[in-house]
Amino acid sequence: MSIMRVKSVEQSIRDAEAPEFRLRRVLRAVDLLGIGIGAIIGTGIFVLTGVAAATDAGPGIAISFVISGFACGLAALCYAEFASVVPVAGSAYTFSYASMGEFLAWIIGWDLMLEFILGASTVSVGWSRYFVAALDTIGLGLPDALTAAPGAGGVVNLPAAIIALILTAVLVIGIRLSAAVTNVVVAIKLAVVLFFIIFGAFFIKASNWTPFIPPHQPPEPGAVAAPLDEPLVNAFFGQTGSFGLSGLVAGAALVFFAYIGFDIVASGAEETRKPQRDMPIGILGSLAVCSILYVLVSLVMTGVVKYDQLDTAAPMATAFQAIGAPWAAGLVSLGAIAGLTTVILILMLGQARVGFAMSRDGLLPVWFAKVHPKFRTPYRITVITGIVVAAIASLTPINVLAEMTNIGTLFAFVLVSIGVLVLRRTRPDLPRAFRVPWVPVIPIVAAAACLYLMLNLVGWTWIRFGIWMLIGLVVYFMFSRRHSRLGKAESTEKTAGEG
Ligand code: ALA
Repeated sequence: MSIMRVKSVEQSIRDAEAPEFRLRRVLRAVDLLGIGIGAIIGTGIFVLTGVAAATDAGPGIAISFVISGFACGLAALCYAEFASVVPVAGSAYTFSYASMGEFLAWIIGWDLMLEFILGASTVSVGWSRYFVAALDTIGLGLPDALTAAPGAGGVVNLPAAIIALILTAVLVIGIRLSAAVTNVVVAIKLAVVLFFIIFGAFFIKASNWTPFIPPHQPPEPGAVAAPLDEPLVNAFFGQTGSFGLSGLVAGAALVFFAYIGFDIVASGAEETRKPQRDMPIGILGSLAVCSILYVLVSLVMTGVVKYDQLDTAAPMATAFQAIGAPWAAGLVSLGAIAGLTTVILILMLGQARVGFAMSRDGLLPVWFAKVHPKFRTPYRITVITGIVVAAIASLTPINVLAEMTNIGTLFAFVLVSIGVLVLRRTRPDLPRAFRVPWVPVIPIVAAAACLYLMLNLVGWTWIRFGIWMLIGLVVYFMFSRRHSRLGKAESTEKTAGEG
């Protein structure tokens, strides 16, 4: 049984048509834009912008957003081409099954689970912070023991677990409800972000932008060097410390989290009415809107408050507190709570869809892929995802989760970019409603840019990522390879041919 076996695009589409596995095609371009923006704007812009400005890039964080957005834009072009050729649930996983073979598809599927499960957990923890802070302001303080993970000064983060479980129920009931809920909340979130930009612009002081890129700062004299806490690339060049040009890239690797989500639009391909036309609109459109908003938000944020004051749990609110507008800070916080809710929802939706596609192919137990008789949603994988997210979110600190999410996602982007090249070569005949321009330059630059951002993540993140991937290899060789539907079909054909 070959681990390089490729599942043909036609086979992927046929499998999706089997009645017991069929999802409903209800999504339009505007729903996809909603899903995209709903998934993208979240903890990244609401929380990490401040952290990255204070510790890595200063006001230059706006440039970090441009760097990260550039890498995502190139990867998004590759996603758009794939989603228009293989309009089947499972996103990057399905694309690589069709282009690079089962083994790489498994790797990418396993990697996407890391992205979605840990991403949803990260944002649940962020949600819990804003929620607890909001309760505090109306005098309903909760004890730390019940609102933070063991490594973060508590025992269990209950609000994070509860929000994950509530949203699981929403997903089981159906994609229609999910899309409707999403659209309303996305509108609120966009309004809050625009309010921040427009209202905040009146309070910008140009002096806060000087220096725009703070000079390089070596580590404090006498500080103990901890190489695994430094970006991997610094180990190569023997550099340490923050700010300066290297700070801009380290900041970009961190705020990359803010862009995660456009790739999830691709995982809804099978539920889209006209995927060939609407997928590129959804993917590229949502990314473009968010990139512009991010650069503006970061300019306003660092213009209103000196960057070194921004390392707080809620930097947007901090900015408005600083100008003496607590009502505006409250408004922004409410918008953040609403906004983070849709991000969790959509990340879990993405995970359920990838898990669904992998089980349908027999690489995970096929029991997971059963569609609910009434709601027509992959309810089993959805419920399991929800429980795992709730457990992880209630017990793990946010910083560990966010870094792991970034490395997993960047790796998926690298493989998707290479996959576009492979599929162009192996299946030039397939109709491509959307084509990446300047092939092979754009896919190669996309892969290189994502790889470079990966190298700017810290050593520990690489080690944890390696361990997760090793576990994936064990599962593949112990279970998936033997249970693969494609593998079984191939060996039946072979036996029939011999007999
Ligand atoms: N991009 C999403 C966020 O910022 C994951 O929360």
